[in-house]
Amino acid sequence: MKTKILQVLRNADDYVSGQQLCDELGVSRTAIWKVINQLKEEGYEIEAVRNRGYRILEAADVLDASEIKSRLHTQLIGKEVYYQSEIDSTNSWLKRLAEDGACDGSVTIADMQSRGKGRRGRVWVTPFGTSIPFSILLRPDIRPDRASMLTLVIGLCVAQGIQKLYGLDTGIKWPNDVVVNGKKICGILTEMTMQAEYIDSVIVGVGINANMQEFPQELSDKATSLRNELGHPVKRADIVVRILELFEEKYQIFLKTQDLTGLIDEYHSYLLNKDKEVRVLQPGDEYTGVARGIDAMGDLIVERSDNGRTEKVFAGEVSIRGLYSYV
Ligand code: BTN
Repeated sequence: MKTKILQVLRNADDYVSGQQLCDELGVSRTAIWKVINQLKEEGYEIEAVRNRGYRILEAADVLDASEIKSRLHTQLIGKEVYYQSEIDSTNSWLKRLAEDGACDGSVTIADMQSRGKGRRGRVWVTPFGTSIPFSILLRPDIRPDRASMLTLVIGLCVAQGIQKLYGLDTGIKWPNDVVVNGKKICGILTEMTMQAEYIDSVIVGVGINANMQEFPQELSDKATSLRNELGHPVKRADIVVRILELFEEKYQIFLKTQDLTGLIDEYHSYLLNKDKEVRVLQPGDEYTGVARGIDAMGDLIVERSDNGRTEKVFAGEVSIRGLYSYV
């Protein structure tokens, strides 16, 4: 009911009377009044005027399921949205839900993670209320070796979503760090579960530094937040909604060819490593070269400086560094 009330109030140009809400939702005035009070307690500014009704003034920085669902215009992504104020990890939680049969496109979201997971077993720090951790469950009928490309697809959506919302000059450090002004603003962790040779689920987890103002010492020269870059706080739900909508669109493009053919040009327009020197850190084979871009499988094409050979660097196995900075 919260989702529906938010939808009706947002879509109205003027006040919405209590009676209108009762009619649209088929519930009593008392029930409406209770939900309106609950929304106010959560931080929504809702004006109530006698004989006119309710009007939503300012959307609070709320990240829960009703806020997201009431604003989404997607068919698949976010069909179910699950929210907890605190959870171990939105990826781990969604994996548990997937095992219990959660549907394709389900999304988990939280205000805080106590055991946020980063790549390579690292910890992802998610302070309460200032970061955005969310995960998307996909059950695609594709070959398992194609699943890692979804990391690049969501990275593209994050970079483009943030650029379009705030005008920030976002870029991607291959394969999937989203970067603003040379510092990381978002990390992505994709995890796959198999049944025999088939994909059971792919969980795409996204962590965005939204309103944090300080970072641990060891991250301070590598990480930033939207708030630090913009000079003002952001409404976290705006970002999630925009990214989920972009992902729905680009996921369909990906599914058509099961590779990045339809997205490669867009991806290149954000790729910060393109035509830059990189150091490829691969167990047993570290080398320097110039990154020329990605191919349709999402591999990074690198021209080695030592022997001039062109290598395809596979996202799952290696990491790369810029020669002079993090990117
Ligand atoms: C990285 O190391 O760059 C990847 C970080 C991924 C963090 C996100 S936050 C939401 C989701 N849940 C997790 O436990 N991790 C991912």
